Amino acid sequence: MSTPVLVAVAWPYASGSRHLGHISGAYLPADVFARHQRLVGNDVLMVSGSDVHGTPITVRADDEGVTPQDIADRYHHEFLRQWDALGISWDNYTTTGTPHHARVTQEMFLEQLQSGHIDKRTSEQFYDPDAGRFLPDRYIEGTCPHCSYEDARGDQCDNCGRTLDPTDLIEPRSKLSRATPVLRETEHFYFRYSDFTDEISAYLGSKSDWRPHVLNFVRSWVDEEGLLDRAITRDLDWGVELPVDDLGPGKRIYVWYDAVIGYLSASQEWASNTADVDQWRNWWYNPDSRHVYFIGKDNIPFHCLFWPAQLLGYDRDIHLPDDVPANQYVTFKGGKASASRGIGLTIDQGLELFQVDGLRYALAASLPEQADTDISIEEIARRINEELVATWGNLVNRVLSMINKNFGEQPPVEGRTADDDAVLAAVDRALDTANDHIAKVELRAGLRAAMDAAQAVNAYLNATEPWKVVKDDRARGGVVLGTALDAINGARVAFAPYLPFSAAALDELLGPVTAWERMPVPTGTVIEKPTPLFTKVDLDTLLADDGSH
Ligand code: MF3
Ligand code: ZN
Repeated sequence: MSTPVLVAVAWPYASGSRHLGHISGAYLPADVFARHQRLVGNDVLMVSGSDVHGTPITVRADDEGVTPQDIADRYHHEFLRQWDALGISWDNYTTTGTPHHARVTQEMFLEQLQSGHIDKRTSEQFYDPDAGRFLPDRYIEGTCPHCSYEDARGDQCDNCGRTLDPTDLIEPRSKLSRATPVLRETEHFYFRYSDFTDEISAYLGSKSDWRPHVLNFVRSWVDEEGLLDRAITRDLDWGVELPVDDLGPGKRIYVWYDAVIGYLSASQEWASNTADVDQWRNWWYNPDSRHVYFIGKDNIPFHCLFWPAQLLGYDRDIHLPDDVPANQYVTFKGGKASASRGIGLTIDQGLELFQVDGLRYALAASLPEQADTDISIEEIARRINEELVATWGNLVNRVLSMINKNFGEQPPVEGRTADDDAVLAAVDRALDTANDHIAKVELRAGLRAAMDAAQAVNAYLNATEPWKVVKDDRARGGVVLGTALDAINGARVAFAPYLPFSAAALDELLGPVTAWERMPVPTGTVIEKPTPLFTKVDLDTLLADDGSH
């Protein structure tokens, strides 16, 4: 039975280049999971898009003296190019700037307004007397009341991760004029998140298999303060327009209210381009579907608390997140190269330095699933050379070369010994192990299982020495090499979600992988002289080249 699986991935702000930490945080894990789920036969819908609203975009536009639309377009196109280069297999990657998304957001807003979960309130809000305007969250900075970090933003503290209200800040200052903002009365719409504290508490209570760091964070949030009502409009002229006139001009829907709705609107947009325009319902109104959200840890409250509450306030029957395997942070450090470029590597820099599957391998092997991790250019190079090339790339190359040279095609493999059967059994076990891990979004462990499969084949070759045997006993040499190729044909299934480009090259040679299982390579399959799947990284050249940029 195939399950509809929604792979919902954080919408990156189209306000600047993203770095490799974002790839490790959300995009790579989502892609590995989606590719695995497709191979096991589930109906995957993988959606996201560029988050083009909010103060991150307007602040950037102000800095550069261009329009917010210019900024959004520039980075949306950059992201599209990078997804392609990285092999991120979206079913729909769109933006929150479409008329369709605005419509879906406005419909949800009206529904919640009618049912009383949205109300209008007058509050005091910071006003910049020099700039002559109200200041939305990110236009205000100050000291965090929780951890005393001095550069906390009006919406969130990057140091302790708490979401903030601008009035929480100690010694607030305006980003526009540096002036000390003053409080003035203004009207906004509020979403009554507090209506859902009990239900969200029960919902989280049922999620015993979530990552501990995610579950602990949101459970203690709910236990300590419950859900508090929050303003869902802002004093901006950039964002989804309000579907009612009550507030007058200059107010738009808050970016965090509309961005999460993107998961739903992007699913509908995807379906609208297929023969069955209603099929998004198969994911969103189906208790048997599974919704998995891939995000970085700074997005946890929005996805585990606020978004489920918004959904509950909209429609009791709509599907809530089933799992939110948020990642911790990756920091890039060490290495002359990264130092010369400031902190972190951009996606383009990573792609310039490394072959894409090599980069994907190294990032996947150090995903911050349970704790923050560090990575450096040297560490990426080491993992590529000493792990990926040494264990998997060389194995494939060796076996294909030996078969090509001695047989030109897959030799007959009748009369296998117990040792031959054992290596195939080891590969099959590794495939099962990888399957279990990836289904639970334990992607580092899944990759380790794939490497275990490759390692088992290497050990088998070292024990059987086919390069010697084939000279004296051609038939036995054929059985060993044919068995090794069958084993590789199994191991490549486990690597396929992680390494889509080299997987495609192997598909060309050995036929496409279409299921999560090891298929025997038919006797007589022609094996051409192979070209290596990966090239070794020469760190000296890399670091030398790097200095010249
Ligand atoms: N744009 C936000 C960020 O980069 C993430 C939004 S995820 C969404 O932090 F689902 F809300 F869109
Ligand atoms: Zn703080």
